[in-house]
Amino acid sequence: MALTPSTHKATLTFSDGTPALELPLYHGTIGPDVIDIRALYAKTGKFTYDPGFLSTASCNSSITYIDGDKGELLYRGYPIEQLATSCDFLEVCHLILYGELPNDKQKRDFVAKVTYHTMAHEQMQFFLRGFRRDAHPMAVMTGLVGAMSAFYPDSMNLNDPAQRQISAIRLIAKMPTLVAMAYKYTVGQPYMYPRNELSYAGNLMRMMFATPCEDYRYNEVLARALDRILILHADHEQNASTSTVRMCASSGTNPFAAIAAGVACLWGPAHGGANEAALNMLFEVQRQGGVAKIGEFIAQVKDKNSNVRLMGFGHRVYKNYDPRARLMRETCHEVLNELGLHEDPLFKLAMALEKIALEDDYFVSRKLYPNVDFYSGIVQKAIGIPVSLFTAIFAVARTVGWIAQLNEMISDPEYKIGRPRQLYAGSPRRDVPAIEQR
Ligand code: SDX
Repeated sequence: MALTPSTHKATLTFSDGTPALELPLYHGTIGPDVIDIRALYAKTGKFTYDPGFLSTASCNSSITYIDGDKGELLYRGYPIEQLATSCDFLEVCHLILYGELPNDKQKRDFVAKVTYHTMAHEQMQFFLRGFRRDAHPMAVMTGLVGAMSAFYPDSMNLNDPAQRQISAIRLIAKMPTLVAMAYKYTVGQPYMYPRNELSYAGNLMRMMFATPCEDYRYNEVLARALDRILILHADHEQNASTSTVRMCASSGTNPFAAIAAGVACLWGPAHGGANEAALNMLFEVQRQGGVAKIGEFIAQVKDKNSNVRLMGFGHRVYKNYDPRARLMRETCHEVLNELGLHEDPLFKLAMALEKIALEDDYFVSRKLYPNVDFYSGIVQKAIGIPVSLFTAIFAVARTVGWIAQLNEMISDPEYKIGRPRQLYAGSPRRDVPAIEQR
């Protein structure tokens, strides 16, 4: 997307005699302006320094917009609250991938394309046999998604839009099948093949929970809740795993390898692994004594030496309530009421923890609000999804975002291979001493 020059400029002045430098500013549609520093090093011999990229825009994008102060999230301009209540996940996939919500015919065509790519290559199941039965599903998924590079030679070329389109459909379609296979492998049950008459979320539920021994009918309320989880996790601007996918794809590698890199990054507990970590945190507080012990747990969190964090709270961008958490909290109530679990001790513990955190100045002063992961774990547990599979479900959702962001980067004529520089703090040049002098 062409940048819109601002009439304003930024002027950098230096006290070390380096000549002042005027830098252009650019406007986005909404949100902060950016200072274009691309000429900085050539003109001043200096780099900027921003570990963690707190103040750095790595690209310009039209896919997702987040306003962390307002607690606003837009996919292609549509508020997440409207999408999560008026659309299903495949409609949102079409929106994120192609920029517009599908009309009736476009939706039928897109759903048909995805549906007819849901089967995994039969050889894929032999990869699973190489894993221990207790392998973490994200270890398996990192392997399986990367291994897709060995199966689809007709959709490996990142620079061919037609091949990117085929690999996009294959990845979106097959992620639920692979995640279900990763789960079935850990429980020693046979794999269930996708069924073309089922919805995307319904297929995922059936492939996870059905067995060949009897017919399986999923609960529509639970399938809708799972579909909403997928919508809420579909994309989120330049988060760690999306930035990983962009960086990986910028080398020209194939789409499957780039998405596998995103899967690997998402696994981390500070990122997509937070829903699993949040639930394990609730289990631990429950083991320590539940609501009665929350005070002691909160004291641990405040003690920097404890290395204990309130998992599911805080966000690099949201300094207000994560809008997805609010929607997930509603879904939580729907699911627990549907299952008659509204007295669920874990949910009550989560609500008590949230209430305390929202009133405690330690969290309020640091703007640590519940994020989407705080409630998505409880919903997934109520649906019957094992804790270790939570992040793999997140990866199913985020695949469309990763692909769209990858496509946007590759389609940008200005894109280059990502290659940041550094501030060198190591040893000055020195000669290698003979071994007897070391
Ligand atoms: C996701 O980027 C995305 O968009 C990610 C995501 C997506 O959709 O892709 O939204 C998905 O990853 C959501 C976030 C899930 N992670 C967690 O819930 C893990 C727990 N949260 C944190 O570890 C933390 O809040 C981060 C990593 C999410 C954000 O960390 P920041 O912005 O780097 O903030 P920080 O680590 O610099 O913390 C600022 C202060 C520190 O205290 P002080 O040094 O100022 O005294 O807040 C404290 C931190 O110690 N703090 C927490 C805390 N998070 C930050 N203290 C206790 N519990 C926490 N969860």
